[in-house]
Amino acid sequence: MSNEENKKEEAGWAYSEVVKDHFFNPRNYLADSDGYKADGVGTEGSPVCGDLLTVWIKVDPETKKIKECKWQTFGCASAIASSSMMSEIVTENGGMTLDQAIKVESADIMNRLGGLPMNKIHCSVLGHMALHNAVKDYLKKNNGGK
Ligand code: FES
Repeated sequence: MSNEENKKEEAGWAYSEVVKDHFFNPRNYLADSDGYKADGVGTEGSPVCGDLLTVWIKVDPETKKIKECKWQTFGCASAIASSSMMSEIVTENGGMTLDQAIKVESADIMNRLGGLPMNKIHCSVLGHMALHNAVKDYLKKNNGGK
């Protein structure tokens, strides 16, 4: 590989400062799920790499806003940063409503992270899919959220 090709390859793997921050200081990571009482749980796996992500949400019964969003993953650095950012997005400013949370897309997470390397984009899909599954689980257990 030429020097020029090497530089391009390296640039393609560059992580933003925001990604590094969320990887080294993950927000809302749940170290031990034993005894953690969530209102909704969702899991998503990646067909590309086989990694798994689980998301737990707690919902305020009056406002129906997500007051806590915890997660665990066996995924890579990008999956950790994406999950951390997803959990921040849904709980900041008093928390998202369930309707808002179900509309979170991987592009929302990616934009807040300042992008991900091209071959790591599938890792960011895990976060919003597991979140959507947790919201659906909550709705199923709570009469559709009424
Ligand atoms: S989550 Fe599997 S490579 Fe990123």
